[in-house]
Amino acid sequence: MKVVLVAGARPNFMKIAPIIKAIKKAELEGEDISYELVHTGQHYDKKLSQQFFDELSIPEPDVNLSVGSGSHASQTAAIMVAFEEYLLNNPCDLVLVVGDVNSTLAAVLVAKKLQIKAGHVEAGIRSFDMRMPEEINRLATDSICDYFYTTTEWAGDNLKEAGAKEEQIFFVGNTMIDTLLSNKERFKKPSCLTDLGINSGAYLLSTLHRPSNVDDANNLATIIEELSKPGLPVVLPCHPRTKPKIESIQDLPPNIHLVDPLGYLEFMYLVENSFAVVTDSGGIQEETTVLGVPCFTLRENTERPETIDVGTNVLLGVEYSLISKSIASLQSGTVKEGGIPDKWDGKTAERIVEAIISHG
Ligand code: UD1
Repeated sequence: MKVVLVAGARPNFMKIAPIIKAIKKAELEGEDISYELVHTGQHYDKKLSQQFFDELSIPEPDVNLSVGSGSHASQTAAIMVAFEEYLLNNPCDLVLVVGDVNSTLAAVLVAKKLQIKAGHVEAGIRSFDMRMPEEINRLATDSICDYFYTTTEWAGDNLKEAGAKEEQIFFVGNTMIDTLLSNKERFKKPSCLTDLGINSGAYLLSTLHRPSNVDDANNLATIIEELSKPGLPVVLPCHPRTKPKIESIQDLPPNIHLVDPLGYLEFMYLVENSFAVVTDSGGIQEETTVLGVPCFTLRENTERPETIDVGTNVLLGVEYSLISKSIASLQSGTVKEGGIPDKWDGKTAERIVEAIISHG
C-alpha cells in the first residue's frame, strides 16, 4: 500500500508531520504501508515552509512541484498539471490530503480523475460561508474523496448529510494536536519577547490574514486600534500579505509590535504564554483550546465550533469594538473555562494509519 501524501501551505505541515511518523512506525512493524511526500510549493518562503520541515523533522519531500503564488485558478491549475505528471510517473494506492488549502483540492481532483483512491484528513468541517475559499475547497474535496478522517463527530455528521456512508468516515481526532502535544516541551522563547522587554503572560498575541479583515484598510486600522486599547503589548507575527498593509497604517500605536512569521516552536511558545490570542486563523482556535489560552476570533463563523462549545474560543465576529471590551473583561477576571475535545489526545495519526491499513 503506497500512500502519496500532499502538503503545500504552512498549516498543512504540522498536520502531516505525525502522519509520516506513524506510517514509518507501521512500516517498521512489518505493515504493508509506505509513503511518498509531495510538496506543491504553494508556500515557498523559508519562514512559511522549510522552517517547519526542519523543526518538526519532516523528511525532505520526494518532489517539490514549486508552483508558487498566483490567483486561485492559476495556482490550483498549476498544482493539478504538475501533480498529474507526478502521479502518472509514480503510481500509488492512495492520495492523502490534509486541511482546506488550494493544494488539498487540486491534488484530490487529479487523483480521482486518474482513478486513484483519495483520503482527506480534517474532512467534514464546515463554516457554511461560501465567501471563504477554504469552504469551497472543503466542499469540493469532500464531495469526491473516498475516505474521511475527522476531528469531531460533528464533521462526520456533516459528511453523512452530504451523502457519505458510515464506512467511509473515521473519527480519529486532530493531527495538529498530535504535533502540539509531542513538541510542547520544545516550545522556544522567541528573541523578540526578550528584545522588546515583554514578560510571559503579559501580552496579547494576534494573527490576521483573512481578506475580510486585512484587505479593507479601514477594517484593519480599526482592528489595530482596538488591539492597542487595553494597553498590553501586542505581538503580531505577520503573514506576507498582511505586513505591508499594517505598515502602511499611519501612527501605528507604540504597543503594536510587528514581527516576521515565526517557526512552529517559537510561535507556539507565544501562544502558550500569552494573556490572550486574537486571531482569524482556523488552526489557532484549536491550539488555544488545547493549551487553555483565551482566544477571540475575528470571524463571523467558524468551521471549528467545538473550540467554542468545549474550548476557550469566543467568536467576536466583525464587531471590532468587542476586541477591547473582551480583553478588558478578561483583565477583570471573567475567564471562559474550557475543556479538550474528544480524541484530541496525541494519537490521531496512529488511528489514521490504522484506518488506512484497515480499508486497504
Ligand atoms: C493559504 C491558505 C489559507 C491558510 C494560509 C496560511 C488557500 C486558499 N489559503 O493562504 O487557508 O490559512 O495559507 O498561511 O490555500 N506569499 C509569500 N510567500 C509564500 C507564500 C505566499 O509571500 O511562501 C504571499 C504571496 O504574495 C501570495 C500571498 O502570500 O500571493 C497569498 O498566498 P497563498 O498561498 O495564495 O494564500 P495564503 O493567503 O497564504
